[in-house]
Amino acid sequence: MSCEPQPSPGTRVVHSLFEENTVLLSVLNGVEKMAMGLEEGGPVDEPFWNALVTFLESFADHHHRKEEEALFPALVARAAGVGELLRELTEEHADFRTRVATLRRTLEGADAATIARAAGGYAFLTREHLQRENLGVYPVAQEVLDDKSVEELTALIEELDTVRLAEGGRTRWILAGRDLCRLSRVDFHGPRG
Ligand SMILES: [Fe+2]
Ligand SMILES: [Fe+2]
Repeated sequence: MSCEPQPSPGTRVVHSLFEENTVLLSVLNGVEKMAMGLEEGGPVDEPFWNALVTFLESFADHHHRKEEEALFPALVARAAGVGELLRELTEEHADFRTRVATLRRTLEGADAATIARAAGGYAFLTREHLQRENLGVYPVAQEVLDDKSVEELTALIEELDTVRLAEGGRTRWILAGRDLCRLSRVDFHGPRG
């Protein structure tokens, strides 16, 4: 019999969300670098910024919705102590939707400094948000989710991926994140697709 510690059931369901947070954090490194380039007077790299906003509207928001619709409700029911944190994180998801819509509008003719400000503010807040989840939410999920809730959550998350992500699914968007890192010349951390 193996003496290796076995991963908790919750580890399975947290894994894909943690991977997505890692992809998002890599992309944010690129956003900050590109925003800095604009602040220093560089030209607006339209292919990068347009692909970025599409990625944020599609994949990043889908990730947030999976948390709101699947993970967070399951946690509230099992770990009352995280209720306030989850409420704050859900409010931040709403704020990100507004900020991404603003960033989309700035691409339609705003000057480089305005784009840089919108992107920089979004990246700063989102980085903090993802780090709070990595440290304060996902570890709790690993601890409190049992086999039955993991089965239910896995099925729900897979269904949401199938229904809400266009052709190519989750893998396509992870590759899109990798492309954004390449375009902004930062390292990509995350699954290799
Ligand atoms: Fe997240
Ligand atoms: Fe989140």
